[in-house]
Amino acid sequence: MPALIQAFLDDASSTYTYIVYEADGGPCAIVDSVLNYDPASGRTDTTQADKVIAFVREHGLHVQWLLETHAHADHLSAAPYLRRTLGGKIAIGESISKVQGVFKNLFNLEPEFRVDGSQFDHLFAPDDIFHIGNLKAQALHVPGHTPADMAYLIDGRLILVGDTLFMPDVGTARCDFPGGDARQLYASMRKLLAFPSDTKLYVCHDYPPEGREAKCQTTVAEQRAGNIHVHDGVDEAAFVEMRTQRDAGLGMPTLLLPAIQVNVRAGNMPPAEENGVTYLKIPLNQL
Ligand SMILES: [Fe+2]
Repeated sequence: MPALIQAFLDDASSTYTYIVYEADGGPCAIVDSVLNYDPASGRTDTTQADKVIAFVREHGLHVQWLLETHAHADHLSAAPYLRRTLGGKIAIGESISKVQGVFKNLFNLEPEFRVDGSQFDHLFAPDDIFHIGNLKAQALHVPGHTPADMAYLIDGRLILVGDTLFMPDVGTARCDFPGGDARQLYASMRKLLAFPSDTKLYVCHDYPPEGREAKCQTTVAEQRAGNIHVHDGVDEAAFVEMRTQRDAGLGMPTLLLPAIQVNVRAGNMPPAEENGVTYLKIPLNQL
């Protein structure tokens, strides 16, 4: 039976969360969940995650995996909330340890904070095979946007591409976060675009141009024919030059500092202080 996929768009961060499953009543994976966060008030809420929970319950699914494509810089992960509510194992690529090392330094995290990925329930090595019920899945290492980005190939027919490729008219993800590398991203994208032309690609974000509705799915053929940054014929040097120039003009995402310090903890909040309150840090004049 082919994989079924349900998308949920978080308007505030333009993030798609996916539920991948084989049939009602069976196992599922939830990919890139969102915990709503208001930076003005410092309040979190679970509106977006609760929509995912409602779908899981309505379809009688049981959660096997809570997958992250990478440590996101534009939203906080709801994976720990979903695990408490629905179960499942939180998983990410093993190179998360590199990202943790960088941000442990930047945020001067507590000495006990481990940079070995052990906050996550499972770490994928490149090309690891895993299963969602009877669906065969593979964790593809696609560094470039960050060193730890993974794409998840499901059933040999569809790929959750994370922040490698965006929709063809939007292009590609930035590479200027710590550890990002435009050359690596080019290689990662070519790896994804080498899959059969009818392979469905599900993006993690969409930022549609004026007049187009947000969309979550495209194909290898559409990307190779029309991706504005990496259609067939664009070589590595041209891509790297375009990406580097473009990144130099981009501002930092609004939620980068709150999001990353939570997401390197697998979505868990920092330890509460003696007064019982949890704080997020803002390093001044560092980025
Ligand atoms: Fe990202």
